[in-house]
Amino acid sequence: MLICHCKGKSHRDVQGAVALGARNLADLHRICGAGGACGGCRPTLQALLHGRHEDRATVTELRPTR
Ligand code: FES
Repeated sequence: MLICHCKGKSHRDVQGAVALGARNLADLHRICGAGGACGGCRPTLQALLHGRHEDRATVTELRPTR
């Protein structure tokens, strides 16, 4: 799932940055580039940093498409 549309970074890219030691948004930006443009993905990046993204992804996936 694409998380940062500006930089084309996926959930997997962000998890990889966390595995490499990213502990905050500045770390994520430095390691994988996510979050360094419009900032629209930063709430989701924060959730990934704090291990809360799984619940949000599940809710998003269950939303009906229009
Ligand atoms: S969507 Fe990530 S910086 Fe714009």
